[in-house]
Amino acid sequence: MKEQETVILRGHAGAKKAAELLANGELVAIPTETVYGLAADARDASAVARIFEAKGRPQDNPLIVHIAKMEQLEGLVRQVPPMAYVLAERFWPGPLTMVMEKSDAIPDITSAGLSTVGIRMPSHPLAREIIARSGCPLAAPSANTSGKPSPTTARDTLEDMKGRIAAIVDGGACTVGVESTVVDMTGAYPKILRPGAITEEMIAQAVGCAETDGATLHGLAAGEKPKAPGMKYRHYAPKAPVQLFEGPPDSTAKAILEALQPGDGVLCFEEYLPLLAQKKKRLVYSLGWSWDYAEHSRRLFALLRRFDHTKAKRILAQCPRAYGTNAGAVNRFRKSAGFQCTDCRENRMVVGVTGRSGAGKSLLTSALAKQGALVLDTDAIYHQLLETDKTLLEQIMARFPQAVEQGRVNRRTLGALVFSDEEARLELNAIAHARVIARTKELMAESDCRLVLLDVPLLFESGMDRMCDLTLGLLADREGSIQRILRRDGIDRERAESRLDAQPSDDFYRERCDVLLENRGTLEEFQQKIQHFYERYCR
Ligand code: TXA
Ligand code: MG
Repeated sequence: MKEQETVILRGHAGAKKAAELLANGELVAIPTETVYGLAADARDASAVARIFEAKGRPQDNPLIVHIAKMEQLEGLVRQVPPMAYVLAERFWPGPLTMVMEKSDAIPDITSAGLSTVGIRMPSHPLAREIIARSGCPLAAPSANTSGKPSPTTARDTLEDMKGRIAAIVDGGACTVGVESTVVDMTGAYPKILRPGAITEEMIAQAVGCAETDGATLHGLAAGEKPKAPGMKYRHYAPKAPVQLFEGPPDSTAKAILEALQPGDGVLCFEEYLPLLAQKKKRLVYSLGWSWDYAEHSRRLFALLRRFDHTKAKRILAQCPRAYGTNAGAVNRFRKSAGFQCTDCRENRMVVGVTGRSGAGKSLLTSALAKQGALVLDTDAIYHQLLETDKTLLEQIMARFPQAVEQGRVNRRTLGALVFSDEEARLELNAIAHARVIARTKELMAESDCRLVLLDVPLLFESGMDRMCDLTLGLLADREGSIQRILRRDGIDRERAESRLDAQPSDDFYRERCDVLLENRGTLEEFQQKIQHFYERYCR
């Protein structure tokens, strides 16, 4: 292909220039909220042919067509299935691509000979402005060289596309970081062909049902034909081989530490930087906190690409848990490792249960105990340790001598000492959590239950979330919670309210927990949700 100068464009003026170039049949890389896309007029077969050439993309892998307004949709597809209108209303503009029967406006090269086409309305303001100004539906695959991780910055895009395309519009770092969810709308109900930020649960909630193609989780079986042609290619792979470790973060960090050899690079969660970066010269990059799934998605591709500029011989990586919004990032992680992973899970499932007081934790744990789960209530463990654990007593005596009378901790005094002193509270927590974690591990080791529930009000603050295969947050309405606290603890309303006010908001749990259960309706409804949770995740 002919070498050309690739200019970098910015802002409205850049969008205007990009739109002109596109309308003239040129290739321009544009920012979207997911990843940068390599765009051309989707109706222009010769421009689209140059996309394949610039990327080195196999001809049998169809492109996604990007639109800015609903009116553009109708001309591009034979008909819009009713459910597609519902999903468009709910998730567009945004990271969702819907596959529908294509119209004659889409040339065969764009759809790689398929009778269908994937359409998406991106939410990035510059992408929308460029599409609108150009007047073209834009075919745009991710703007990487085929096989490499997708670019999430203009700089990464330039690295792959310099000299091959007319321009790159710099719209900053992508906020989502992994490509859109691709969902096939040609069947009776939506089928996810490629997971992304719009999850199966979100789609099912909007239209009643949805399923995910098995190949997204485990790769293709030998001889299996992929529903999304792109799924069959080695993908998202940096030069050095990626070795993936899956399981509770504490377990994967330990396994990586044992496997590390000189020359290895590491991708780990923020919490484990001190452990895994012990030796100064080691190449260790952080994916963000272990619970921060949005951050894992944002950083993953950029970090994988960064290793290509190092001498790393292998990349040992902690894989995040694959729940909810993280399904997309985990799918890309597994693809980058060729679906080979070291399984660090034990032969049991550990679920960390958390939520505010009165949210229904004990209801849930007692229901699951009836199904055979081992339930460990860390508050109860702590109170027992206060009576029996010499180390804990000594540590409290050293830091809070006023709270120890005749060799016993006075819980009331201790509570008062830390009540309005945040620093003291954190110190007490650090002391207590270490002992509770040690005791919890002992109790787990003594049991052979296949399902363990850790009831931990401060699941994330204590770091016990990192021992878990799954974290479950319970959310309840305020009045229901107050009523449950009043019934259970026999305190007055004012104290129940101030206790709730001191605890985190719903958003705290929404942001961190793998799965949420809402306890806002009747008791029967909550019990049904518990049963559903058990059947879906714990068996
Ligand atoms: O977020 C995104 O979707 C980004 C940005 C730029 O919008 N684009 C993107 O495009 O990821 P690309 O070409 O890298 O990935 C398109 C995926 C491929 O796996 C392809 O096989 C699948 O979507 N796909 C496209 N059209 C399809 C169709 N008609 N039927 C099934 N799968 C299709
Ligand atoms: Mg791609």
